[in-house]
Amino acid sequence: MAKSRVLVVGGTGYIGKRIVKASLAEGHRTFILRRPEIGLDIDKLQILMEFKRQGAELIEGSFSDHRSLVEAVKQVDVVICTMSGVHFRSHNILLQLKLVDAIKEAGNIKRFLPSEFGADPAQMENALEPGRVTFDEKMTVRKAIEEANIPHTYVSANCFGGYFVGNLSQMETLVPPKHKVSIYGDGNVKVVFMDEDDIATYAIKSIDDPRTLNKTLYLRPPENILSQMELVEKWEKLTGKTLEKTSISAEDFLARLQGADFATQVGLGHFYHIFYEGCLTNFEIGENGEEASELYPEVQYTRMHEYLQRYL
Ligand SMILES: NC(=O)c1ccc[n+]([C@@H]2O[C@H](COP(=O)([O-])OP(=O)(O)OC[C@H]3O[C@@H](n4cnc5c(N)ncnc54)[C@H](OP(=O)(O)O)[C@@H]3O)[C@@H](O)[C@H]2O)c1
Repeated sequence: MAKSRVLVVGGTGYIGKRIVKASLAEGHRTFILRRPEIGLDIDKLQILMEFKRQGAELIEGSFSDHRSLVEAVKQVDVVICTMSGVHFRSHNILLQLKLVDAIKEAGNIKRFLPSEFGADPAQMENALEPGRVTFDEKMTVRKAIEEANIPHTYVSANCFGGYFVGNLSQMETLVPPKHKVSIYGDGNVKVVFMDEDDIATYAIKSIDDPRTLNKTLYLRPPENILSQMELVEKWEKLTGKTLEKTSISAEDFLARLQGADFATQVGLGHFYHIFYEGCLTNFEIGENGEEASELYPEVQYTRMHEYLQRYL
């Protein structure tokens, strides 16, 4: 079977870059949307030019120009959208509704992967305000996809290593603490930590796989299901130093919502669900889901002691 042609929308972004790389590595003809709006953003243009050098094809198209999106979509079999969705950075999840309209009109797409790549929003019905906006918007996009009968796969990628591992899951920093570490509750709630390149590899493997059609692909490789305490212990073993640990009760953690700015409140809510409630692991994968490391045992996924070595 010929490999699908892939269009990445958001290809210069944090996870988008990895998706482009994985798509090229798996031998897919890979297209990237080049938006005229990037204007004088030299970094984005350089990323696009480098991908072009590696074999990707650039297609011009804009979210302000429906026809251009339809024409872009018509050139491929699979669309992967990695639209921004982190509040302290950039968040435009609902813009994807325009892409859904274009895919619906084009009518040729065999698989669409919308910008998900986090906690499964379908499990987050009772999420706290205001952080629930992320899950609500992702569910709105899902609804539009399903109403338009667009074949899809939702990738639930759990915690990106760059945001949750290097910093031992401390908020407001991306590097490991030197002396003291805050522990959420008893630190024993199970979380799933992922290397970003592995997320992209699993996502690309799913696009031509009938087993993931109209399903959620959960990334839960067994050795990466760890508690915060286990993560901290891995770092302590690597450095040979013991960190001073302070446990934060759920009550004290939630009290931080008061007076915090919007983006921080969103982040606090997400951390609460992950580290106190265990929202990434407190449910079984049902019949509408598949687990990535079971489907693709050939992927040698990165273990978190390896990921942490980058921070030594
Ligand atoms: N699980 C986790 O730990 C975790 C962490 C971070 C993010 N995520 C999720 O991963 C997904 C992608 O996030 P990210 O951090 O990779 O995103 P990002 O790097 O902030 O942005 C991705 C892309 O979104 C596009 N974009 C932004 N604003 C746009 C606009 N106004 N019009 C058109 N395109 C626009 C840009 O595409 P161009 O390349 O075309 O400029 C940008 O490169 C989101 O769903 C997010 O929630 C999960």
